[in-house]
Amino acid sequence: MSAPAQITRFRELLARVLGWTFADNDAQQLAGLLRDRAAEHGMSRDAYLARLATRRWEPEVTALIERLSITETYCFRHGEQFAALREDALPERAAARASQRVLRMLSVACSSGEEAYSLAITGRQVRPDPDWIVSVIGVDANPLVLRKAEAAWYSAWSLRETPDAVRRRWFRPDDGGYRVVDEIRRLVRFQRTNVAEPDDSLWRPGQYDVIFCRNLLMYLTPAVTSALVERMTAALAPGGYLFLGHTDSLGSDPDGLELRHTRQSFYYRRAGGPTPQRLGTPPVTEQARTVSGPAEALAVDNTYDRALDLLRQERFTDALELAAAPRPGPLRQRDRLLHGVLLAQVGRLDEAVALARRLSDENGLNPDAHQLLGLCLEDGSAVAEAIGQYRLAAYLDPGFALPRMRLGQLARRQGDDRGAAAELERALDLLAREDDERITLFGGGFGRIALTVLCRSELDACGVHP
Ligand SMILES: C[S@@+](CC[C@H](N)C(=O)[O-])C[C@H]1O[C@@H](n2cnc3c(N)ncnc32)[C@H](O)[C@@H]1O
Repeated sequence: MSAPAQITRFRELLARVLGWTFADNDAQQLAGLLRDRAAEHGMSRDAYLARLATRRWEPEVTALIERLSITETYCFRHGEQFAALREDALPERAAARASQRVLRMLSVACSSGEEAYSLAITGRQVRPDPDWIVSVIGVDANPLVLRKAEAAWYSAWSLRETPDAVRRRWFRPDDGGYRVVDEIRRLVRFQRTNVAEPDDSLWRPGQYDVIFCRNLLMYLTPAVTSALVERMTAALAPGGYLFLGHTDSLGSDPDGLELRHTRQSFYYRRAGGPTPQRLGTPPVTEQARTVSGPAEALAVDNTYDRALDLLRQERFTDALELAAAPRPGPLRQRDRLLHGVLLAQVGRLDEAVALARRLSDENGLNPDAHQLLGLCLEDGSAVAEAIGQYRLAAYLDPGFALPRMRLGQLARRQGDDRGAAAELERALDLLAREDDERITLFGGGFGRIALTVLCRSELDACGVHP
């Protein structure tokens, strides 16, 4: 096989045995690894690939995981998710489990255990009475990190986001770092699991109150991701909660799950179970989707279409006049969104920001309102907040290309070429399917082709794309 064909084959095999997907710019790293692993076994690269393809080769799969997996984690990572867990999700689950007096949690891809212990501490804080059972299972495919998890010892750096009171109560100083107290260690069990393979007892239906699966899906192939999401959904009790990483969105309407938004974090609730009492934002309902979606059919008059048409012709003042003219009946979200876009186009940024904020306050799950807010804030030099808004827009609608494109351009401006390339590649992929209306609203006067060319040239300029 030629060298590029060997890399392609190696990628296919890694997707098969571990469920992993690799970006094109990982080819060099894979070539180095393939060379080293084949040499380690005294084989040619072709023979090594053939061996990996034919029979189970557990020690080798382990060596590959240990060499390739990214294991970065820390205690109470993304504290806002733990706040939502502590204040909203777990109290609700405790109410639902009142007769069983048990809270079961699962940390998928737990790495060295910080996430699993953070879950156990939160469960222990929330349990209504001492006779409740709180249990956490942490699973990961990498035995090296699982050994560290079992030891339950962490450096001060791993506790950088852990509140002092929590550190004092649930960790004890040990050997220059901190060890999780036995009372919490007893609640947590670790097991080696490769999520690309079935495991009937781990995924028994309806058993978990909460599953955390953060910063794993982005490494997995679409097929393994959707199989895993399906298994996790089924393994949750009705009304149980799924928390994903910030870049792992399933969008606002995945099968069997409702999107929730509290304490500034997004997470999902398995449909069914008791109606949540304590949660701020309702799930995205059919009505919310049709009212806010750019593809909504015009029902009342054609002012929207006429104003949009004027925007396409770059007749911003005329379009704004039309959009702002008084009309009978309540204005829909899409009318107000267009109004906001036009205010921004004519430079009335403060008014555009105020309008976009009202829209996102009314429906925090509207990706277009976050995109508009991002564009206005970026122009007004609040770049950090603009980035947050673009992330929300991309999270709420994983098919939305334009926030990804802005994220890529901003990352590049900040010198983060690798991060920029990842966003721009994703944007490029999504641009082909981007909604026409969104391109008109948020494309800054560029059409699909011009945006694609722009995105491609930014990507080339990152220098990390082959
Ligand atoms: C970045 S860490 C995530 C740690 C933690 N969940 C967090 O967000 O802080 C990703 C973990 O996924 C694990 N992993 C990768 N592929 C896996 C697979 N096929 N099955 C199980 N775990 C896997 C890696 O070993 C690694 O520890």
